[in-house]
Amino acid sequence: MSLANLAVAPMQKLSPAAEPATETLAAFFRGLGPDWHSQWAWDHYEPTILALARQFGLKRLCEIGGGRDPLFTADEAAANGLSFTVNDIDAGELALTPAGLQTACFNIAGDLSEPDVARGGYDMMVSRMVFEHIAGVEQAWANIHALLAPGGVALAFFPTLWAPVFALNHVLPEKASRAIVHALFPARRDGGDDPVFPALYEWCRGKPTLLTPMLNRAGFREVHIQRFWGHGYFDRMPGLKQLDHAFNATAARIGWNLVTTYAYVVVRKDKA
Ligand SMILES: C[S@@+](CC[C@H](N)C(=O)[O-])C[C@H]1O[C@@H](n2cnc3c(N)ncnc32)[C@H](O)[C@@H]1O
Repeated sequence: MSLANLAVAPMQKLSPAAEPATETLAAFFRGLGPDWHSQWAWDHYEPTILALARQFGLKRLCEIGGGRDPLFTADEAAANGLSFTVNDIDAGELALTPAGLQTACFNIAGDLSEPDVARGGYDMMVSRMVFEHIAGVEQAWANIHALLAPGGVALAFFPTLWAPVFALNHVLPEKASRAIVHALFPARRDGGDDPVFPALYEWCRGKPTLLTPMLNRAGFREVHIQRFWGHGYFDRMPGLKQLDHAFNATAARIGWNLVTTYAYVVVRKDKA
């Protein structure tokens, strides 16, 4: 079970004034001024995508693993000048995608000769809480390179090992992991009909020097890893919450890559 998708915070818009007028991904993110805490990553996921799209002139957006809960409605995508396709490996998930959205059912780590796949057909590919579930992440990045048009950008937002909360989720049996989630989030005990996707955490790390060679092999020369620390799982546990926060704040201050909790991995395909 993935712990990572249980703490989604409401969306905030970045003001146009906050958008940097720069060329590289690294400069773009410096201009956004992201916080070290992962709450920023949750709060700014959609606005960051919209800002990237505006900054780099990206129009054709594909959300990988968007499933039943995609980023935008058809109206929101149109209002932002985007042509929006929702991908998922699971046709059952796509059947629950809100009406009016274009869908594409394929495995992002699979064989791209499947009929639904548009090589070079997207300017931007994004995903939230998907990469930890993918078997064959290096192939997924190579496929993303093939699916992007020249100059296209991809952003994957995922939980990272070895943040203690996710390391525990990774090593514990599924049943134990679910019991902990239910203890931390009792409101979810009878929990709706959200499906459970097994988390594998392949290449789900926050260390730039580890990820960059793999992303280079997949075809990307421009890579930016935006690292985050901290999480909200202990928010209702006074004492533990403060202790954990102090640990994460220190880890962020010294840039301890081993214990990042989440990352935005952002890549751009060469223009020619
Ligand atoms: C935890 S859900 C996240 C859904 C959504 N992105 C969100 O943030 O709420 C993971 C989604 O990724 C999809 N998925 C898993 N592996 C995939 C793959 N190899 N290719 C495409 N989609 C995949 C699952 O079917 C599921 O819909």
